[in-house]
Amino acid sequence: MAERLKVLIIDDDAARRTDMRHRLGTAIEVQEADTGETGIALLKARKFDCTFVGDRLPDMAGTGVLQNFYDIGDDMMPTAFVMLGGDAGDTGMADALRWGAHDYILKEQASTPALATSLAKAREIFSLRKARHSAGEKLRHAQKMDAVGQLASGFGHDFNNLLTVILGNTRLMQRRVDAMQDVETRAAILPKIEGVEDAARRGANLIRQLMVFSRQSELSEQVVDLRQFVRAAADQQQKKLGEDIKVRLLDTGTNPTVRIDAKLFDMALANIAANARDAMPQGGALDFAMGSADYGGNEYAHISVRDTGRGMPAHVLERIFEPFFTTKKTGEGTGLGLAMVYGFVRQSGGHIEAASTEGQGTTLDIYLPLYRSG
Ligand SMILES: Nc1ncnc2c1ncn2[C@@H]1O[C@H](COP(=O)(O)OP(=O)(O)OP(=O)(O)O)[C@@H](O)[C@H]1O
Ligand SMILES: [Mg+2]
Repeated sequence: MAERLKVLIIDDDAARRTDMRHRLGTAIEVQEADTGETGIALLKARKFDCTFVGDRLPDMAGTGVLQNFYDIGDDMMPTAFVMLGGDAGDTGMADALRWGAHDYILKEQASTPALATSLAKAREIFSLRKARHSAGEKLRHAQKMDAVGQLASGFGHDFNNLLTVILGNTRLMQRRVDAMQDVETRAAILPKIEGVEDAARRGANLIRQLMVFSRQSELSEQVVDLRQFVRAAADQQQKKLGEDIKVRLLDTGTNPTVRIDAKLFDMALANIAANARDAMPQGGALDFAMGSADYGGNEYAHISVRDTGRGMPAHVLERIFEPFFTTKKTGEGTGLGLAMVYGFVRQSGGHIEAASTEGQGTTLDIYLPLYRSG
């Protein structure tokens, strides 16, 4: 059975609320509020499928409630809204629609069929606007990812070449200093050279991640037994993460073969594990599961990595694959870890999805094309 629709009626006339409740029928769960403020509080606390709001409330105009929620830039409301108007011909209707209401109905004309029609109409308009809004968001997001990718591809190779020069020269300097007789000078200079080398290496690592994100790195693919590969990666992570994090391996029985760049795949799993570690400062579990699974109607090799960490809110989850998106302090995160993972998976012909619940944990699902020999 379909879930009951939840409707909120905000109006100070108790008799009208009762009348509307009856007309809406028992298939609909109705809540009531007699002032604008109580209505607003209810709307903030719960999710409704539709709200009917009287045009004149004791503490504010009905449009006051609308204005509280209307996002004028996005033309979006949190639920479907129907304004209950007073006299025909007043300016209320135009005002209500201007402030995001999806329909308008006169109080005296709120018959049973009129209410049902209005409810359906408002919900339809609401869901159409929502669909348009999320299509716009998706497009904006894709364009942003594209723009950063192009920017990175503009300087990735050049920057890498610079770092190679720096690294090459530090190595030469090291050799020269190592051969010096003067022990004191040697002891003073060597650590400085090591500092330069270390910084250049970190720079090279960042550029490498960025280049994987923008799909400019050449993949050196090989045929890999997924079960063996993930098992080795899990073992390696267990050693790195220490005892407080329990790495577990869940095998679904199927054993797919994939054709991938093993080094990059390793790097991707290490990036995911590093995030899990950061999300579980008190320890927890990190589960690697593998097998095959359906994605968009096709069969893929499937690797799922789940942690029991702090999870993240929706507005963070939406952005985790963006390069340079990080919630960590400066110096602690660059925001390239998952961007690299995303680029690698996409360049390998796969898909990635993330799910998270605050306080409970995060799961990343990676789908890679199955390799079929012959
Ligand atoms: N397992 C996780 N649990 C909770 N939040 C996560 C998890 N994985 C990623 N995040 C969130 O996604 C953001 C981006 O992750 P990403 O790995 O791309 O960058 P980072 O870890 O911040 O920096 P970097 O990996 O470059 O050191 C993180 O800052 C964090 O807010
Ligand atoms: Mg990271």
